[in-house]
Amino acid sequence: MPNVAAPAHELQTLIDSLYSKYRANHAGEVATYIPELGKANPDHFGICLITTDGRVFEAGDCDAPFTIQSISKPFAFGLAVEEMGAEEVLQRVSVEPSGDSFNSIQLQTGSNRPFNPMINTGAITVSALLHAKHGAGTFDHLLERFSAIAGRQLAIDEAVYQSERRTGHRNRAIAHLLLNFGVVHEDIEAALDVYFRQCSILVTARDLARMSATLANMGRNPMTGDSAFSIRHVKDILSIMFTCGMYDYSGQWAYRVGVPAKSGVAGGVIAVINRQLGIGTYSPRLDQYGNSVRGIEVCVDLASRLGLHVFDCLNMGSSFLDAVLNPTS
Ligand code: DON
Repeated sequence: MPNVAAPAHELQTLIDSLYSKYRANHAGEVATYIPELGKANPDHFGICLITTDGRVFEAGDCDAPFTIQSISKPFAFGLAVEEMGAEEVLQRVSVEPSGDSFNSIQLQTGSNRPFNPMINTGAITVSALLHAKHGAGTFDHLLERFSAIAGRQLAIDEAVYQSERRTGHRNRAIAHLLLNFGVVHEDIEAALDVYFRQCSILVTARDLARMSATLANMGRNPMTGDSAFSIRHVKDILSIMFTCGMYDYSGQWAYRVGVPAKSGVAGGVIAVINRQLGIGTYSPRLDQYGNSVRGIEVCVDLASRLGLHVFDCLNMGSSFLDAVLNPTS
């Protein structure tokens, strides 16, 4: 009997074709404002999809390590809400899109709260809240929780951490402004240290897909089966990712892709297809908003081909994707 290879799964064929299509896109620039990030290989490109029943479809550099950066923000916010309750956290940080860049220094008029936890003002506030509760053990605690969400032990990139700590003057200015308005506690240097470390956690595109799939799977890691997040708080995280996750591109993202997402300046993007799958991409060249150029193009394309947009009236997001994942023949 001839040894005939089984045809590739339709989703794998799609990922392979998107990888080939966008590999030639060299638009954008690698971030250099944190000097160590400038050393990234601009050609790296990985796309990984993980379903909520643990199937992996991937192409390209899905094992290449890079720092999580702002993709840490929704997970840190989730921890804070889980541990302190939404009411306490929302007294310190709002949930409004800012329409402004990730490192904007603006606070809400009147309340002096950060606009949302996806931009630096809000994320530093969340790190400070976690630090006020856990003290010197905050980062170890956060790393342990992030590792459970990813389903493997994560670690930080010491060189990126030192680089950001040394050059993070704008974040220091933000932290002191927050202290001035009484939004954060006085040990702001220690809280900033947590923030710089959490941004420096090393991940791969596959880790990001796993973390995203954990959110899609209502807080349970689909690979390990461990409950990494309380199901009650997944909604809190996804709704802010939907409205604020892509900074001042969030409106365009909601229009074009229509799913909760988050990007980081090292070139990672996550997108969550609720109850179905998690997407993680890596490509370090960024657009003017600080979002990965290829990551956005891949997600736009995937959303339109698979009908992922939550308001897609053709309702392909459930039925078409379901058929792709579970063919009857
Ligand atoms: O605060 C910073 O500058 C970074 N550590 C994180 C920023 C980031 O990833 C923005 N994302 N596009």
